[in-house]
Amino acid sequence: MNTKQLKDYPVWEKLKQQAEIMKQPENHLKHLILKRNRLDTCLLKGAGMLYDFSHQRIDERTMRLLFKLAESRKIRASFTSMVSGESINVTEERAALHTACRKFSGDPVFMDGKDIMPDIRNVRDQIKGFVSQIHSAALTGSTGKAFRHLVVIGIGGSYLGTEFVSCALQEQAISRMKLYFLSNVDIHNFGRIVSEIEPETTLWIVISKSFTTPETLANARLAYEFMEKKGLALKKHFVIVTRKGGPGHHPATPKLASFDMFDFIGGRYSVTSAVGGVPLSLYLGNETFERFLKGAEEMDRHAEETPVSKNLPLVAALLSVWNNNLLGYPAQAIIPYASPLRKLAPHIQQLGMESNGKQVLAAGDRLDEPAGTIIFGEPGTNAQHSFFQLAHQGRPFPIEFVGVIHPRYPQYLDSSKGVTNHQELWANLIAQATALAAGREDGSPARHFPGNRPSSTIVLADLSPENIGRLLAFYEAKTVFEAFLWGNNPFDQFGVELGKTVADDIRQEILTRNGNENYGFSKSDQIARYYLETLFSGQP
Ligand code: F6P
Repeated sequence: MNTKQLKDYPVWEKLKQQAEIMKQPENHLKHLILKRNRLDTCLLKGAGMLYDFSHQRIDERTMRLLFKLAESRKIRASFTSMVSGESINVTEERAALHTACRKFSGDPVFMDGKDIMPDIRNVRDQIKGFVSQIHSAALTGSTGKAFRHLVVIGIGGSYLGTEFVSCALQEQAISRMKLYFLSNVDIHNFGRIVSEIEPETTLWIVISKSFTTPETLANARLAYEFMEKKGLALKKHFVIVTRKGGPGHHPATPKLASFDMFDFIGGRYSVTSAVGGVPLSLYLGNETFERFLKGAEEMDRHAEETPVSKNLPLVAALLSVWNNNLLGYPAQAIIPYASPLRKLAPHIQQLGMESNGKQVLAAGDRLDEPAGTIIFGEPGTNAQHSFFQLAHQGRPFPIEFVGVIHPRYPQYLDSSKGVTNHQELWANLIAQATALAAGREDGSPARHFPGNRPSSTIVLADLSPENIGRLLAFYEAKTVFEAFLWGNNPFDQFGVELGKTVADDIRQEILTRNGNENYGFSKSDQIARYYLETLFSGQP
């Protein structure tokens, strides 16, 4: 466990001095990107991915110092502790073993002296068997019709990663299956979904690790009532994914099947567990889901076994700390030039910000250096026509671009004016990284581009299930490497608790008022009371 602040390492002071050097005009990115052999030191390949950081504001000395920081902080050793089942989530006293979910090697993983792999394999086999029965229509809805609509009820880590992967692999979905996500407690979400599904052929998948999340429980209740009113047998239309031994396992809950996720898997790291496994295998098929897991496993091995200077997620994490804490950029955008990756940024928002938006070291002392990055994003080229004005001339933020060499739909690759749409897309990706870095002088201030705006580019060969698995595991590993550098615990989330507690109090007031028209919201503060009165008055 990390008890030291970054400033406790002598190399941190050297990095601060180096940052001042890199801020000098002679180190403007327009010069750095033209340096001979820039790509020899700023391009990495591994685990089927390419990572180019030639457009970051670094030179060889900066990288040597960052590598030294990684060595001093022993972050590879921390990663090994994580994958080997140590209680790395110190505040909640448990392991963080999402990597075990995609392990196919047959090696044991011990947690508290017990090999957890048999349990993991059992759940994987249970999912496979269940999915085969649904796909072959051996298991049907209560009127005997095969399932065609899948609705995931869950929020945060119990849905965002699954949504990302399902969008990324949408073209590989089993043709008859449609997948929906009921995450928000907002009735618009429920109303739209039930207007699109056919209840008789709908399987609801309720996913919650805790089974106490109010939004998920409220939506599940609504779904139960909706199906009951349609005269359908609930025990034929609901599936549950929840923590082994948790409240979701109540015997009275009607269900077709239930699947365990484990205490040692955090919500935002749970896509490769039953949380993603059940809906994604139903939607994409067992084989595609397994290929996705194998891609993630390959990236895990790369992250664990590759030396610091060649390790893709580790180098990405070092650059993140460099940009945040030494160059002073608090935000980062993720811009995939591939529409199927449109849900990558929303997933990484939660992964990164819930993991590393922290104020204390894992050991408890307040962090001297701020941890966490503000993450947002949108696919290119749409992003260019949305917020790239700010990116080029307003407040700068580093960008992670993602490019894909071979798109889907090759039948539409005819060129117009000699350039295919896909080449047009790539022209834009390459141009943005160059323009942001190099800028352009102009006598008119409104037309001047300052440049010196950093970016990295990730390149995938295609959108195969393996590559989506690699990309997912890359970001998971990057996130925990960042945490090991900053020194925070990336596996707890106490920051979301206060809002939930305040909502509990307000919900209680609403409940009282629902049963007594004259109740005066006496417990809320004056502003909350104003809103509650406005809500009940029916007038804004
Ligand atoms: O937002 C807080 C949080 O606890 C997330 O960490 C989690 O992914 C989400 O809520 C859902 O939790 P659960 O799976 O327990 O319903």
